[in-house]
Amino acid sequence: MLQAPPGTRDLFEPEIALWQKIEQTVRQVMALAAYREIRTPIFEPTELFARGIGEATDIVGKEMYTFTDRGDRSLTLRPEGTAGVSRAVIERKLLGGGGILRLWYMGPMFRYERAQKGRQRQFHQIGLEVLGCAAARADAEAIALAQQVLHQLGIINLIVRLNSVGTLEDRHTYREALLAYFTPRQGELDPDSRDRLTRNPLRILDSKDPQTQAIAADAPKLLDYLSAESLTHFDQVRSHLTDLGVANELDHTLVRGLDYYTRTAFEIQSSDLGAQSAVCGGGRYDRLLEQLGGSPTPAVGWAMGMERLVLLLESQQGEMPPAVSVYLVSRGGAAEAQALVLAQSLRQHHLSTELDLSGAKFDKQLKRASQSGAQLAVILGDDEVSQGVAQIKHLSDGTQVAVPLPEVVDHISNSVRQRAIAESDNLLTRY
Ligand code: HAM
Repeated sequence: MLQAPPGTRDLFEPEIALWQKIEQTVRQVMALAAYREIRTPIFEPTELFARGIGEATDIVGKEMYTFTDRGDRSLTLRPEGTAGVSRAVIERKLLGGGGILRLWYMGPMFRYERAQKGRQRQFHQIGLEVLGCAAARADAEAIALAQQVLHQLGIINLIVRLNSVGTLEDRHTYREALLAYFTPRQGELDPDSRDRLTRNPLRILDSKDPQTQAIAADAPKLLDYLSAESLTHFDQVRSHLTDLGVANELDHTLVRGLDYYTRTAFEIQSSDLGAQSAVCGGGRYDRLLEQLGGSPTPAVGWAMGMERLVLLLESQQGEMPPAVSVYLVSRGGAAEAQALVLAQSLRQHHLSTELDLSGAKFDKQLKRASQSGAQLAVILGDDEVSQGVAQIKHLSDGTQVAVPLPEVVDHISNSVRQRAIAESDNLLTRY
């Protein structure tokens, strides 16, 4: 049997309702903060990621889906969104003569990783980028908006971890200090970290190996190698975050897996996600646009993994409200024809309606009505049609009334509205 490739998933009910909830929430938060949506291609020239993310990173070194197209171009399925957004900003001159650009995006990304809970080969990100602003206020606004999305989704048990990885110049001196510290101890490091010693020593700090972690705990700290400007910037970010009520923790070992970061680096982690604890990651990347051939443009942003958001919503929240308000049951030629028209009319009045098309016996259809979670069932048989009525059954308590057909839509609208009012009163008294 043909199967979906490892690390990919089909999404459908009921999980998809959570995806829709996330999408709606993000659209709302972004619109309120005046961020505009951008959609960039799923594949880009391989060189964009090699230059942007960095040859020495795991992503570029071993995780990219790269192929040659029929025109002999090397293309890669995007492993992340920042490089593509930066390419679009440069190519389309979206920043024009300066100014500040606030963008957000949502969509699939691809990394050839070992699939496990919260880690997919095709995964989905929501991301945000602020381009053209070097001020610490931009970092703080971006981080607070990530927090806002998570808060509005009702996700709890989160922690914002923050570090500054300095400028390229700051890091140059730090790299020397790290090499001097780790080289005499290389025999005790895990094989991956030994490999990183020459290619990318900063990433040793990010090792998950307990022995390497113990050694890394005493390594020189990046903050001690920052220039005065980088330190001031970092202090300002933290002070703005405090003003915004975003609690955060300094994490000296947070270095992130992409090479483009400068100064602020952060992650939002959840203790409810197991090994893949980062729900959001991001930071500042003041040199990336220049490296890609654009003019020097300070920028900051983040991305969240949608699969991880869904896992958190599933573990932290109860059932989603039912998708439909009305379930329409009918049997017999005239009744079935009438029900088809009634369903259309209900939907035109913004009442979500599922029409049972099975033609099965009433008790079977009514069982499905109860299982659907709908508030009301509308029952139409040929008897009802000849009397010019429909039976409306409240599925929560089983009460039933006959309503003249021309009044059915109004009757249902009122019932659904009254229930919504009762539910919001209920919520208000609870909080
Ligand atoms: P990243 O840390 O590589 O950053 O990814 C951001 C988030 O995407 C992670 O925190 C995680 O939630 C999710 N994620 C990453 N890989 C996977 C995977 N294989 N399966 C499921 N979820 C995953 C970036 O991608 C940067 N572009 C973020 C950024 C934007 N920095 C500045 N602007």
